[in-house]
Amino acid sequence: MADRLAIDGGTPVIAEPIPSGTHGPSAIDDREINAVTEVLRSGRLFRFVEDSHVAAFEKEAAALLGVNHALMVNSGTSAIICALTGIGVGPGDEVIVPGYTFIATAAAVVGVGAIPVIAEIDESLGMDPADVERKITPHTKAILPVHMQGVPCRLDDLMAIAKRHDLKMVEDCCQCVGGRYKGAYAGTWGQAGAWSLNYFKVISCGEGGMVFTDDYDIYERTAFASDAAMPMWMSDKEWQNPPFSRQGYRPSEIMGSIARVQLSKLEDILSHTRRLKKAFLAELDAPKGYIPQHVDDPEGECGISAAIIIEDPELTPKYVEALKAEGLGAGTAYNEGFPDRHIYYYWDSILFKHSHHPSGYPWKDPAYKGNVEYSRDMCPQTLSILGRALRFGFNVNMQEDHARLMAAAINKVDAALG
Ligand SMILES: Cc1ncc(COP(=O)(O)O)c(C=O)c1O
Repeated sequence: MADRLAIDGGTPVIAEPIPSGTHGPSAIDDREINAVTEVLRSGRLFRFVEDSHVAAFEKEAAALLGVNHALMVNSGTSAIICALTGIGVGPGDEVIVPGYTFIATAAAVVGVGAIPVIAEIDESLGMDPADVERKITPHTKAILPVHMQGVPCRLDDLMAIAKRHDLKMVEDCCQCVGGRYKGAYAGTWGQAGAWSLNYFKVISCGEGGMVFTDDYDIYERTAFASDAAMPMWMSDKEWQNPPFSRQGYRPSEIMGSIARVQLSKLEDILSHTRRLKKAFLAELDAPKGYIPQHVDDPEGECGISAAIIIEDPELTPKYVEALKAEGLGAGTAYNEGFPDRHIYYYWDSILFKHSHHPSGYPWKDPAYKGNVEYSRDMCPQTLSILGRALRFGFNVNMQEDHARLMAAAINKVDAALG
């Protein structure tokens, strides 16, 4: 017989709170502090200096990823904007994004004058390849898969679709820095990848981002996209294409100096979180009332999260309350409460085609010949999954025993309710 649930007066599985924390920011120590202090003392805060930390970060990150080019920028959003500009996306083009990602992914598409088309997610919590294929129109230029919460999405299937329909691909790896998919780093499958280094990410310099690619021409376009004066900082001879003017996404040496130290900690951070997730999964019993998130490549994912999808929507609130009573914080992403901007349902600026300009750009741009339609209930599968998915995070302050206790709490609740 199942143990009496804590919600019914039984003893909670988790007596002491699970340590809270993040990844990169919780790993900050004297090395980041000294790096920043050194930059401030040197007075050399601009990235185009000799022995630039930003340039070194780009080189070190490119070497880690095994790509030819990397460009540091000031956010993940600007990294996606630069990547899209790099592959030639602009007015008239549609770009397919998943209905579960931070609104910045779709906003970046609008930022280059293109049209975001929203596709369903599936039990991987990433893009549903079947729906992506349904959403392709003659105007589709690219697919923008997002690797949410450290888990690369179904890249094999998405790559096959991109190939079949001659589409380009930019990977949003903002939440998956250091994640790998079948041996290669996330972000190296499509034409370009984007990292975020904001406070919530695997490694962080407060705010920041990076775009990376193997293709020199794409790199040069990302560089022009990031700094209207780029040709001024580097001699004309260094550019192979005529420069164009875009926005200003230049990072500072302070950001570069922190990012370098954090990059040197990336593998330690990920081996810790991967250990936690392995301990969690090893402790988990066979599920009765839920299905585990589908993970295409368990070896390569970051191990910073795990999700279970309760099969019966009626039982979901009961799981949530019972888990909380056992000492494990739980909640669904979509719950008709907090308007989480990671869910397309709350992207009002996109759903209602709000433009910064009376012309209605980009939806009413004369170059756009399509007719994208949005509505709050346009991706019912996504809302259904996110209304039943409970996500648990692993951070650098936790130990394997904490991960096992989390699994034990889930086992106990599932045995009673499933
Ligand atoms: C999936 C995803 N894409 C894009 C972004 C945008 O990154 P940033 O906040 O650095 O602009 C984020 C950040 O939260 C994100 O999680």
